[in-house]
Amino acid sequence: MTTDKAYLKINNQEVELPVETGTEGEQAIDIKTLRASTGGIVTVDPGYKNTASTRSKITYLNGEAGILRYRGYPIEELADKSTFTEVAYLLIYGELPDKKTFDKFVADIKDKSFVNEEMKNIIDGFPRSAHPMGILSSLTGAMTAFYRDVTDISNKEVLYNTIVRTLGKFPILGAWAMRKRNGWPLTYADSRLSYVGNILKMMFEKPMEPYQVNPVAERALDKLLILHADHEQNCSTSTVRLIGSSHAGLYASISGGVSALWGPLHGGANQAVLEMLEQIRADGGNVKKYIDKAKDKNDPFRLMGFGHRVYKNFDPRARIIKKSADEVLAELGVDDPLLDIAKELEQAALNDEYFQARKLYPNVDFYSGIIYRALGIPVEMFTVMFAIGRLPGWIAQWKEMRENKEPIGRPRQLYVGPAERHYVPMENRK
Ligand code: SDX
Repeated sequence: MTTDKAYLKINNQEVELPVETGTEGEQAIDIKTLRASTGGIVTVDPGYKNTASTRSKITYLNGEAGILRYRGYPIEELADKSTFTEVAYLLIYGELPDKKTFDKFVADIKDKSFVNEEMKNIIDGFPRSAHPMGILSSLTGAMTAFYRDVTDISNKEVLYNTIVRTLGKFPILGAWAMRKRNGWPLTYADSRLSYVGNILKMMFEKPMEPYQVNPVAERALDKLLILHADHEQNCSTSTVRLIGSSHAGLYASISGGVSALWGPLHGGANQAVLEMLEQIRADGGNVKKYIDKAKDKNDPFRLMGFGHRVYKNFDPRARIIKKSADEVLAELGVDDPLLDIAKELEQAALNDEYFQARKLYPNVDFYSGIIYRALGIPVEMFTVMFAIGRLPGWIAQWKEMRENKEPIGRPRQLYVGPAERHYVPMENRK
C-alpha cells in the first residue's frame, strides 16, 4: 500500500520515491524507479541490513518488541496449542485448516513417507564421517532425479503433490543421514505414528527391537519444530527464494537452503552452541573467560547462540525453548550440567555492558541444543533438526515468490576494481 513519498536530492536533482506502509505500520521506500530516474544510481547494502527483498504475507517479526507471528498468529499460541503439521499447513496455505482438509493433508504426507530404494545407492557413496547436513543437501537435490520437481506452478494439483511429497520424504532423508553415521540399516516410516513420532522412530529405531515413541520427547520435538518453522527473510529462506526465482524446482531450491542453513552464523549455531558449552565445561566452567573472549576484537570467538540480525530484544523463541528445556529435562529425568553453564553464561552476558550496548540476547539456537541432547539427538544432527523445522517455511516462501510472479533475483553492485587497462605480454611483466 503506497501512502507517502520520500525525496532524494542527488547531483542537483530531486527524485520522488513512493513510501509503502505494511500491516503493522512499518514503512519501506520503493526504489524500483531509482536507477532509471537518476541515470544509473543504485543503493548498496551488504547483508541487506536495510533492504526488504520482497513483500510477504507469511511471517511478521518485530525485533525491537520481540514479536513473532506466523500468518498473524503469535508464536506463543501456536507453540502452546498447535502441532507442527498444522503449522506447516498454515504457513504454506495461509489459513488454519478445517478437520477434513487437515486430515487429508496429513494422510497425503504419510502416503509419500517413503523414499525410492535407489536413493540408498547415493547415501552408500558417502563415508560414515560425512556431516549429515552435507548428506541432506545432496539427497534433497538428488530427489530431482527420482521425482518430478515442480517448476511450473500453474497446475495446483502438481504443486500440492510436490509439497506433500517433500514434507513426507525430507525427514526420512535427514534420519537416514544419522543412521548412515551410526552404520545402522536405513529404515522406513510407520504410518501409524505421528509426523514427529516418525522422525524419532526413524532416527532411533534399532533393528532388533520395536521402537516406542516417548510422548514427552514427541511433544518437545513437535514444539521445537514449530518454533523453527519460518522466520521471514533469513539467510537460508532468502537463498531458497533466490534459487526459485530462476524457476528452478522446489527440491533444487530447498537443497540450496539446506546448505545456507548449515553455516555456523545461521542454523549451524545450535551445534556450535553445544560445542562451546562443552568447551567451557572442559575448561573448568570458566564462564568469565569466554565472555571476555567474545568481547575481545582480536579474538575470533563469538558467543554462539547470542545476537541476531533482527531481534534487538529477547528472541521470543529462546524464551519458550528455555522454559521448555527445564520442563523436558525434569520430565525425562535428565540432569545436564551444560544447562547450568548455559544459564550462567546467559546471566553473565545479559549483565555485561558489551552485550547490552549491542543488544545481544540469546537467540533460538542458544537453548535448543540442550533439549536435542536430552532427547538423545547427536550434536551433528542439531542443524538437520533445524532444517526439518524450517522446511514448511522454505516451501511457503518459495510458493509465495512464484505465485507473486517475482522477477529473477539479480542484485546490482558498486564496482570498485581497476579502471580499464590493457593486456601485457608475459615477457614484459615485472
Ligand atoms: C539464526 O536471520 C534469522 O532469522 C536467523 C534465524 C532464523 O530463524 O532463521 O533466527 C536463525 O541464524 C540465529 C542466529 C544464530 N547465529 C549465532 O548465534 C552466531 C552468533 N551470532 C552472530 O554471529 C551474530 O549475532 C549474527 C550473525 C546472528 C548477527 O550478526 P549481524 O546482525 O550481522 O551483527 P554484527 O555481526 O554486525 O554484530 C554487531 C556487533 C559487532 O560488534 P561491533 O563491531 O559493533 O563492535 O555485535 C557483535 C559484533 O562483533 N556481535 C557479537 C556477537 N554477535 C554480534 N559479539 C560477540 N558474540 C556474538 N554472538
